Amino acid sequence: MGQLEGKTAVITGAASGIGRAIAQGMARQGAGVMCVDLDGEGAARTAAEIAAEGHDAHHHRADVAERAEVEAAMAAAVARFGRIHGFVAAAGIPGRGRHVLDLTDEDWAQVIRVDLTALFVCGQVAARHMAQEGGGAIVMVTSQLAEVAQREAVPYVAAKGGARMLVKAMALDLAPMHVRVNALAPGLTNTAMTRLDDPEVRAARADVIAHIPMGRPAEAHEIAGAAVYLCSDAASYVTGTTVTVDGGYLTV
Ligand SMILES: NC(=O)c1ccc[n+]([C@@H]2O[C@H](COP(=O)([O-])OP(=O)(O)OC[C@H]3O[C@@H](n4cnc5c(N)ncnc54)[C@H](O)[C@@H]3O)[C@@H](O)[C@H]2O)c1
Repeated sequence: MGQLEGKTAVITGAASGIGRAIAQGMARQGAGVMCVDLDGEGAARTAAEIAAEGHDAHHHRADVAERAEVEAAMAAAVARFGRIHGFVAAAGIPGRGRHVLDLTDEDWAQVIRVDLTALFVCGQVAARHMAQEGGGAIVMVTSQLAEVAQREAVPYVAAKGGARMLVKAMALDLAPMHVRVNALAPGLTNTAMTRLDDPEVRAARADVIAHIPMGRPAEAHEIAGAAVYLCSDAASYVTGTTVTVDGGYLTV
């Protein structure tokens, strides 16, 4: 029997990379999944792939920073499944790699909107449903860059650090309602965002890769298990914390 048998979950960013792998991983453990993404076609593709494996998967297009669209996505999930046990916020953008002296207000606002504000919006919409239904689990995908900074990534690093504390503060408010809130912090992962399949891009990240004790970036499916765990009953006493999946990056 799967770890998420009888459970349901909404996963944002499910069209690509880590969100897609999490949707697959959760469905393979028995969860019914609603795949949400700004890229509606990509979300539909992920849901179709999962359904082709014999699992219960649906899709919905939404911008995670637009409250009305997130509410519509949750409503679509509730209409399908009745109750939502898990919400994984994996949608995100990297922002433009710019030195702090060259950043514009727009560069800042764009990243904060998707990588921080949207987590509040999604988390609150999910929590309102879960609190009413007797509990649930919310997982916010943050980053190893919630702990250590990286050059030319000021808005991203600020958003991820903010998300780490958002998780703690939400976990405190929601613990009495049996809603657990945790962060999942991946290290460098091979996805569309990082484009590590391109040898030139990989060469440009050689210093970061050299710093990873395991000597390589993660593949997206290696991140998914932590989301399965955090949404499962095995994590029934886990809230307000971060599960880091970084090949040891933060240990050195
Ligand atoms: N890849 C890495 O090395 C890495 C490392 C640490 C953390 N992360 C985080 O993991 C998450 C997923 O990243 P990924 O590498 O899978 O990237 P990705 O680009 O492969 O996937 C991100 C998905 O988010 C969606 N998205 C972007 N803006 C959206 C919006 N406004 N509304 C709805 N969907 C939106 C995109 O369409 C895309 O499908 C992000 O939060 C990212 O910051 C990634």
